[in-house]
Amino acid sequence: MLDLKKIREEYISKLNSKLNLLQVNQLKADLLGKNGLISNQFKKIGSIKGSERKKYSSELNNIKDELLDLINSKINEIEISDINEKLQKEKVDITLPERPFLRGKIHPVSQTIDEISSIFSEIGFSVEEGPDVENEYNNFTALNTPEHHPARDMHDTFYLDEKKQKLLRTHTSPVQIRTMLRDKPPFKIIAPGRTYRSDSDQTHAPMFHQVEGLYIDKDINMGHLKGCLNYFIKEFFEVNKIKMRFRPSHFPFTEPSAEVDIGYKIKDGKIIIGEGDKWLEILGCGMVHPNVLKNVKVDPEKFQGYAFGIGIDRLAMLKYGINDLRAFFECDYRWLNHFGFDPLDVPTNYRGLSR
Ligand code: PHE
Repeated sequence: MLDLKKIREEYISKLNSKLNLLQVNQLKADLLGKNGLISNQFKKIGSIKGSERKKYSSELNNIKDELLDLINSKINEIEISDINEKLQKEKVDITLPERPFLRGKIHPVSQTIDEISSIFSEIGFSVEEGPDVENEYNNFTALNTPEHHPARDMHDTFYLDEKKQKLLRTHTSPVQIRTMLRDKPPFKIIAPGRTYRSDSDQTHAPMFHQVEGLYIDKDINMGHLKGCLNYFIKEFFEVNKIKMRFRPSHFPFTEPSAEVDIGYKIKDGKIIIGEGDKWLEILGCGMVHPNVLKNVKVDPEKFQGYAFGIGIDRLAMLKYGINDLRAFFECDYRWLNHFGFDPLDVPTNYRGLSR
C-alpha cells in the first residue's frame, strides 16, 4: 500500500510539471510499460492473501485509472498548445500588398507568323513544318541546286558534318520537297520557320525566319502568283493600295524567278507602306522549275505552279517599326515588354508552329 501511495504522489507531481510529449510518453512507459511500476504491482496481486487482495487490487486499479487520465489529458494539452504555437508563428499577414502579376508577351516574330498564317489560311493554304537540321538533298539537290552549283556558295551554309551531308537549312524551301514527296498534287501550302546563314549585320542575323509558299496544280501561272502576293501584302500591312515591283532574278528552283520589293516612305520617323519612292526587298519567288517537280515524282507536263519565300523578320520590322533585326534575338526582357504582344490577342485560327 505504501508503495502505491508513494508512486501515485511522485507521478502526479511529475505530471504536473512542464513537460513535452516525449517526456510524458516516457513517464507513461515508466508506469504502464511491460516492466512499469504499476504493471509490476499487478503481478504482485497473486501473492497477497485473503481480504487484503481485493482491497489492494481495487486501490491499484483506481490509481492506474487516475494516472492514465492525467497522462491522457497532459498529452491532449501539449498537442493543443503545439497547434496554437504553430498558428501563432505561421499566421498570414493579410495586410501585405499582393505580388506583382507578370504576364508574358508574344514575341513580334511569333505574332507575325501568326498573322501571316491566318492570312494565307483564309485563301486555302495549309501550314506545313520541317526540321531545322536538314539533309543536303532536300536543301539543295532536290531543289535543282546540284553540288558545285554557285548558288550553294551564296548561301553561307552552316554544315554539321565534314561530308556536308547535314546542315542547318538555309531556307524554308526544303519543306516544299518534303511535302511533295509525302503527298500527291495539288499542293497549296505555306511553311513558316527558322532558317540559318553565316551572316550578321543590322539587317541580317545568322538565324532568321522565312515563310515558304507553294501552289502546284493544273494551269497555275505567274498571274496567280502576282495576285496572291499582292493580296497578302495588302492584308498584312492593312492597306488598300500597295506599291510592289517584280525584279527579274535567279533561283535554281524557279524559272522564271523574281525578287519582290515593296514601296515605302518614312514620314515623321514612321514607315508608311504603299507610298513613296523607297524600295525594300521582302521576298523571292517564281514558277517552280520542272526539274524540281521531276525530283519529287510530279509530272511537270500535268502540274505546275509557283513558290515564294518571304523574309518574316523584315516584314515584322516594317510593320512594327523595329529598326535593328538583331534586337529580335537578344532576349532583352525590356525590349520584349515594349514590342511584344498581349497573348490574348493571338488569332484563334492559327494552327502552325509551336512556340
Ligand atoms: N528559298 C529562296 C531564298 O531563300 C526564296 C525563294 C523561295 C525563291 C521560293 C523562290 C521560290 O532565297
